[in-house]
Amino acid sequence: MYTQAMDLPDPQAGTLQAVPAPAESALQQQFDGKMDADRKIEPQDWMPDAYRKTLVRQISQHAHSEIVGMQPEGNWISRAPSLKRKAILLAKVQDEGGHGLYLYSAGETLGTSRDQMLEGLHSGKAKYSSIFNYPTLTWADVGVIGWLVDGAAIMNQVPICRCSYGPYARAMIRICKEESFHQRQGFESLMVQMGGTPAQREMVQDAVNRWWWPVLAMFGPPDADSPNSAQGMRWGIKRISNDELRQKFVDATVPQARILGVTLPDPDLKWNEARAQHDYGVIDWDDFWAVVNGNGPCNKERLATRVKAHEDGQWVRDAALAHAAKQRARALKEAA
Ligand SMILES: [Fe+2]
Ligand SMILES: [Fe+2]
Repeated sequence: MYTQAMDLPDPQAGTLQAVPAPAESALQQQFDGKMDADRKIEPQDWMPDAYRKTLVRQISQHAHSEIVGMQPEGNWISRAPSLKRKAILLAKVQDEGGHGLYLYSAGETLGTSRDQMLEGLHSGKAKYSSIFNYPTLTWADVGVIGWLVDGAAIMNQVPICRCSYGPYARAMIRICKEESFHQRQGFESLMVQMGGTPAQREMVQDAVNRWWWPVLAMFGPPDADSPNSAQGMRWGIKRISNDELRQKFVDATVPQARILGVTLPDPDLKWNEARAQHDYGVIDWDDFWAVVNGNGPCNKERLATRVKAHEDGQWVRDAALAHAAKQRARALKEAA
């Protein structure tokens, strides 16, 4: 795990010779050289302010998405139809909490505290993935989230395993392995439901109809409307463009839908022989921006639940700090 203890004193402080700091242009050149050579930037390395800020924003948004993303499916843990499904769902929702923790830790290595990041989320200043502002109306939604939402997350996140910032890239390797389990459990649950009664099949189709378009929007605005993407590419933070990722996702999902026996709700979706890719219909970006800007079906509920969970957990943090202080005092006493 990355450093959790940035407030600890440096044991070597004061023993090192002061080295004159290189001029900023030389540092910038070194940084650019690392970008050109596709080498990693580590927390102790010099980096431009804008690179640091972009990473803090992206990593914290990513962490927020993981922990807010626990809510739509968490709502179904007590209503899972069998012990097996409940155990799988519990494990998956716990994984998402873990992803949030790795990512907050990666964000902390950039000099921003977890409290600062959480304050951004709780005050509504920081964003999280808009997909989690949609409701989970039936049990089929849980399977569809695994299949499509986690499937889209994998498509988005595998390239981040090669991100130029070391702690973020390393966190993503484990996260992607777990996301793969999430996708498979969703698909398998849907396969079972599609083999059930006509009412079950209808429930799955209804969930697919509601989630398909918001999932396509998860990849972000079209490349033509993404002015920051070029800088992200240069910095090795973004490796594949929004539209390319969306296309890869559509192409991978169409055969899976066929195996499941569901229809993807897009009359324009068809194979384009010349492009050797699927064409698909127009995404409703007005709906996407309305949800991003706080007006989705569940934005207020999600944020209120998150803030309450944080407040309810205050005693755990207090107890952990008191325990750590006691242990430190005991260690000091023993050392004396
Ligand atoms: Fe996750
Ligand atoms: Fe996941």
